[in-house]
Amino acid sequence: MMDYVLEVKNLSKEFPGVKALDNVSIDLKPGEVLALCGENGAGKSTLIKALSGIYPHGTYDGDIFYKGQLVKNKNVKDAESLGISTIYQELELIQGLPVKENLFLGSLPTRLGFVKWDEVMAKSYESLNKIGLDVNLEANIRDLSVAQQQMIEIAKALAKNSEVLILDEPTSALTTKETERLFEIVNELRNSGIACIYISHKLDEVFELADRVAVIRDGKHISTKNVKETNRNELISMMVGRELVNLFPEQHLEKKEKALEVKNYSVYDLQEKKIVDDVSFDVYRGEVLGIFGLVGAGRTELMSALFGAHKGRKTGQVYLDGKKLKINDTQQAINNGIAYVSEDRKAHGLVLGMSVGHNITLSSLRKMGKVLLNSSKEITESQEYMVKMDVKAPSLETIASSLSGGNQQKVVLAKWMLTNPKVLILDEPTRGIDVAVKYEIYNIINKFAEQGIVVILISSELPEILGVSTRTIIMREGKIVSEFDSGSVTREDVAKYATGNE
Ligand SMILES: Nc1ncnc2c1ncn2[C@@H]1O[C@H](COP(=O)(O)OP(=O)(O)OP(=O)(O)O)[C@@H](O)[C@H]1O
Ligand SMILES: [Mg+2]
Repeated sequence: MMDYVLEVKNLSKEFPGVKALDNVSIDLKPGEVLALCGENGAGKSTLIKALSGIYPHGTYDGDIFYKGQLVKNKNVKDAESLGISTIYQELELIQGLPVKENLFLGSLPTRLGFVKWDEVMAKSYESLNKIGLDVNLEANIRDLSVAQQQMIEIAKALAKNSEVLILDEPTSALTTKETERLFEIVNELRNSGIACIYISHKLDEVFELADRVAVIRDGKHISTKNVKETNRNELISMMVGRELVNLFPEQHLEKKEKALEVKNYSVYDLQEKKIVDDVSFDVYRGEVLGIFGLVGAGRTELMSALFGAHKGRKTGQVYLDGKKLKINDTQQAINNGIAYVSEDRKAHGLVLGMSVGHNITLSSLRKMGKVLLNSSKEITESQEYMVKMDVKAPSLETIASSLSGGNQQKVVLAKWMLTNPKVLILDEPTRGIDVAVKYEIYNIINKFAEQGIVVILISSELPEILGVSTRTIIMREGKIVSEFDSGSVTREDVAKYATGNE
């Protein structure tokens, strides 16, 4: 029996201005789940990319051994044929193609030059069945939710017979039920001897799933511990480099006058199906309104409709400070002072090919009537937000695509905060963000609310909803089913309303 299926020895990798990995050594035993933890920009994804062939042999220092053999991957295919499969943090699916073709991207089975669709369909059903995902194989990937797309990625990796499965923040877009299913799958794989490297910012998951946990900080390997021999606080202080006492900052909010009124609001999809069903609610100054619900409850559709980004029909009225709003597109929303941090940062949030500075000023540019980041005021403000949220980038000129996942999310947040919004809608704003920076973001949310900005927070994380919002609305199947002051309920109560098992 071999000791290790994978050994990483003295791995280093540098980018201009950043030492992403600094002499990292870790190992992986057959049939174990090794969690990889660290703050945003610590180097987790970079390590994974060296293992998975994205960074070929020769583009990093140090050695990787797979079952004792020196690995010299030229590309991702090499790594996959060895038996190392990876599910990346950023979805790799092709948006224009149907599900079945995405499942076999680059490896569609052919005979005499023709795709064997029977085999594709059979295998597609098999891998989707394995993870219990029920979607139409002919459906366009574009029409699936982020969660469904993520599950497709996982099915894709399962279809290749891997011995090492690497998951880079796989659950960030999954529902509780889907996450449970994923954990079952990982456990089944572990029992059959497959090893797994699991990256997550959710420490609950680490303790539930992993056998060991490796922490990296600023590109350096800090320590690897047996999960049974460590605890949350120790992990956090290893990641952050200091003690972190509270997860949520103290609030000094005072509910004032009514600011936003939404009346009898319904939203339809392009097939005229009602996805938000006659909702009415008010938001007051000096509060943070939380909106909780399961994926599919209609929260995102409601908010993107209010922001003018929803394609289908909508009915009902919206008033801001007593004035009726007419919002048919996002520019009208921005002109009316509405900012929307969307859950899918690639679709609405970030232009990956542009610099960080340009991305941050993107939404406020038109308002300021300018096209370029040029005044020193803008630069100072952008830099302020970069510092506040600890965006790890060498400079404002850095191209957004070269930032770590969490740091990209911070740029999206900074961008909207710079628009001086009257209404700030945050849809899963801390997805993929590490604990220390979450705290900073909550601080900023509170500050906005104190200044009288209307803040609406959508989150699937109950502790976050209860810890940050002052009042919470629960949505289920397009309707508002309950409302309460956040201090007065337990997590169990909320979960009951959201699932309908009262
Ligand atoms: N292609 C690249 N070009 C330049 N710098 C890069 C590139 N890829 C990563 N970096 C930098 O290397 C460092 C490590 O990034 P990495 O993506 O590995 O972080 P991470 O631990 O995965 O963070 P997160 O939790 O935010 O996903 C960051 O400072 C990042 O900006
Ligand atoms: Mg990453």
